[in-house]
Amino acid sequence: MPAISRTIRARIPTESGEFHLFHYTNTSDRKEHLAVVMGDVAGKAKTLVRVHSECFTGDVLGSLRCDCGEQLTQSMQLIAAEGSGVLIYLRQEGRGIGLEAKLQAYNLQDEGYDTVEANLLLGHQADEREYWAAAGILADLDIPSIRLMTNNPAKIEHLEALGITVTDRVPLLPSINAENAFYLDTKIKRMRHMLDLPPTRNGDLANHAPARHSSIQVPTAGHAEQIARISRLAAAYFQQESRPFITLSYAQSLDGSIARTAGAPTVISGAASLRLTHRLRAAHDAVLVGVGTVLADDPRLDVRLADGPNPAAIVLDTHLRTPPDARLFERHQQVWIVTAGADSANAQALSERGARLLVTPVGEDGRPDLSIALARLGAEGVKSIMVEGGAEVIHAFLIRDLACFAAITVAPRFLGGLPAVTACPTAVCLPELSDVVYTQADRDLMVWGALPRGNQQA
Ligand SMILES: NC(=O)c1ccc[n+]([C@@H]2O[C@H](COP(=O)([O-])OP(=O)(O)OC[C@H]3O[C@@H](n4cnc5c(N)ncnc54)[C@H](OP(=O)(O)O)[C@@H]3O)[C@@H](O)[C@H]2O)c1
Repeated sequence: MPAISRTIRARIPTESGEFHLFHYTNTSDRKEHLAVVMGDVAGKAKTLVRVHSECFTGDVLGSLRCDCGEQLTQSMQLIAAEGSGVLIYLRQEGRGIGLEAKLQAYNLQDEGYDTVEANLLLGHQADEREYWAAAGILADLDIPSIRLMTNNPAKIEHLEALGITVTDRVPLLPSINAENAFYLDTKIKRMRHMLDLPPTRNGDLANHAPARHSSIQVPTAGHAEQIARISRLAAAYFQQESRPFITLSYAQSLDGSIARTAGAPTVISGAASLRLTHRLRAAHDAVLVGVGTVLADDPRLDVRLADGPNPAAIVLDTHLRTPPDARLFERHQQVWIVTAGADSANAQALSERGARLLVTPVGEDGRPDLSIALARLGAEGVKSIMVEGGAEVIHAFLIRDLACFAAITVAPRFLGGLPAVTACPTAVCLPELSDVVYTQADRDLMVWGALPRGNQQA
């Protein structure tokens, strides 16, 4: 755990009463974590404590989008009423994603995503906060146990895991307005917050929520059927072929683009499609992307928005350009890197990160021979792979007729960007789907169908 040390303290008279502000430095970041202390708390069991994460918009501007400012004021008032206590102020804006990303997330929320979905769409976790600084400050103040002012069970769990004794939880009651109603509802439903919200004056909570994409009726039953269909086909295919069943799955715009430009991530599909993608991942043994996608998007490729296990991750990477600090290493027990040679300077670092290098002879294009790679992965027991892209990889699987099934999201927008498939020589005939089923995921269309290689069992 990083070390944290007190530099200085000063008296701060406030409307709620007189506090002392303690300033800290630490060995992990350059942030000024703070403690606002009232009374003599050293050695005091069950000290009233708030561990508050910085929220510029709520704390300083009084934004109505969240309840942070209110929680800050309430905590200081409760401490003042008791005559002693501590408000720990951690500099981790926007649940740890920073102010810039929080503002991007606000814009996504204005498009209809909830706070969790918005963070995930931006490639962050729903909550990236850490509490080691709080634990260090409590130790510095010599506080043996705390009564924690919070509605967030995860915060209690984090602090307890750091050795803090939390004897009681003191709830903080927010007031509800049209701007924060949906946010508070999301906190309850998706982040386990312990809030018992009263109905508001103008009706129930839902009436206060802004219009959202999910208000459109979604026939989700078809999705379960299609996922079951893939699982059935995959099991039969692997039994017969001893190689993994390949599901090609990506999101495209109406004009067939999968990104605005190569090398940059673009949010194409909606939140419901994203959840579906996670369900699909959970139904496969592995998820595969090209190194171009790893470098552009740094994707996690895990299952966060659905129930189910994380699949293994596979990266096609001829020259071992995958960064050892890529986020996919954080979440996958097994990461395969299909490569042409293991003599790059990066090989050692990737192996130390836990990657297994699958060295494969190269084909005419100078890249790992996909057919051989798939046979090897089959021999390792990988029965099904969801190929998520990017463009070069989608093209490579289609042109070689290696995919068995397609599950493609079509979002109702134009991008004019990177096409999923580039122009092929006229002699090459790209496959057509059979037994096609269309479903809807909020505003997106899902196209499901067997490809010739996989449809013999359809
Ligand atoms: N909309 C979606 O669903 C979706 C999904 C994924 C990605 N994307 C987007 O797609 C873009 C990335 O696409 P991309 O075409 O640049 O990269 P990519 O398809 O992810 O990766 C291509 C790279 O993979 C490596 N590779 C190794 N073996 C290969 C093989 N046999 N066949 C093909 N490639 C092989 C090659 O690099 P080396 O020669 O160095 O090995 C190649 O340059 C990003 O902008 C990303 O946001 C969109």
